[in-house]
Amino acid sequence: MDKIRIRGGIPLKGSVRVHGAKNAVLPLMAAAILAEDACVLHNVPCLHDVFTMDKLLSCTGLVIDFTGRYMTLDPANINTPEAPYEWVRKMRASFFVLGPLLARFGRARVSLPGGCAIGTRPVDIHIKGLEALGAKITIEDGYVVAEGPLHGGDYTLDFPSVGATENLMMAACRGKNFTRIMNAAREPEIEDLARFLNAMGAQISGAGTDMICVAGVDTLHGAEHVVLPDRIEAGTFLIAGVATGGDVTVLNANPEHLSGLSEKLREAGALVEVHGGHVRAAAPDGIKGVDITTLVYPGFATDLQAQMMALLTCASGVSRIKETVFENRFMQAAELTRMGADIDLDGNTVIVRGVPALSGAPVMASDLRASAALVIAGLMAKRGETAISRVYHIDRGYERIEERFASLGADIERVRE
Ligand code: UD1
Repeated sequence: MDKIRIRGGIPLKGSVRVHGAKNAVLPLMAAAILAEDACVLHNVPCLHDVFTMDKLLSCTGLVIDFTGRYMTLDPANINTPEAPYEWVRKMRASFFVLGPLLARFGRARVSLPGGCAIGTRPVDIHIKGLEALGAKITIEDGYVVAEGPLHGGDYTLDFPSVGATENLMMAACRGKNFTRIMNAAREPEIEDLARFLNAMGAQISGAGTDMICVAGVDTLHGAEHVVLPDRIEAGTFLIAGVATGGDVTVLNANPEHLSGLSEKLREAGALVEVHGGHVRAAAPDGIKGVDITTLVYPGFATDLQAQMMALLTCASGVSRIKETVFENRFMQAAELTRMGADIDLDGNTVIVRGVPALSGAPVMASDLRASAALVIAGLMAKRGETAISRVYHIDRGYERIEERFASLGADIERVRE
């Protein structure tokens, strides 16, 4: 298994281009199930999760060609409304195929995903929502078996779940239905999905607000779409720039999607500048502690919480981080402590007391964003070497992370074992 080895203490300097968003491309790929002819996606990131979705969709008969950052998805021979456990267990986003399969075939059989390192992560909101729209749902041998037809209607989500909003939006697209999804998630990736579906001929309005209206149509055709930039990847590079006392610019970002992070970085004393689609962050005078509460968009993203925790380990003063979206998302805390951080856990809150410096250590990646935090901590460490094992977690959501940090001046390499 590969490791990432880092000798830290070097301020990162320069610019790095942001790729297409993982959390946008996965539902976009699932949406191609709904089309009658081929769809094309541009700016597709080269990530393990994208390959997993590719394999899963191939099981349905969808034919995918992925070359460079360009992907075609041809549904001409799609014939199997099923998502096997083999792929769903690898990635929860696989569950996003339930809505489009049901809309296209009138029935679907999709494995239940189960929990993961950051919590039990149930899918009850997806299921209750589809039932409210008319689906008959049973659980058989670990699979969700859904039968249509859907009649549409109003549904208010118990919690603005990103995945459930996307699943319901895709399920509601086809047929003679009118659907209103209330308390919908407002993440930019949902707007991106609605843009793609509308380009395919869907009638969706309100995406990006808490009420999404979907008027069903008989068929959807193929469409081309450019995947929006990854705000979490962009945020990770900006935090790393600040954390190392450097000066980093992310290119091809959407600054509006980074405003929650930019405000927090400024509050901590960093300089954050926006020039068109480029965002620059630097911390010439060091960082002071801040309090963070993760929230649904447009609040502070839970997917940037771990990286901020790494940054705050060396801030002056005390920071409090409260996680309200996931139940168990502090996996990085124990590893950061091994690198010299002073962190106390108290339920869904951690207290981080700033220390003068971290030191390198062998650490273990546990989930995607916790792994990114360990990379940042390794880059910050003033002494010793950090060796991060289980880097397959990082490869799920960051493309060649070591090469991109190296391009900013970091002493970082992948060691193949
Ligand atoms: C998506 C993102 C993930 C991000 C998360 C929150 C993708 C591929 N992943 O995940 O990176 O961290 O949004 O911004 O887009 N919940 C339920 N029942 C449900 C559904 C969700 O209780 O039926 C709970 C979850 O356990 C979690 C919370 O709601 O505690 C948020 O989950 P959700 O918004 O659904 O996240 P995902 O779509 O899985």
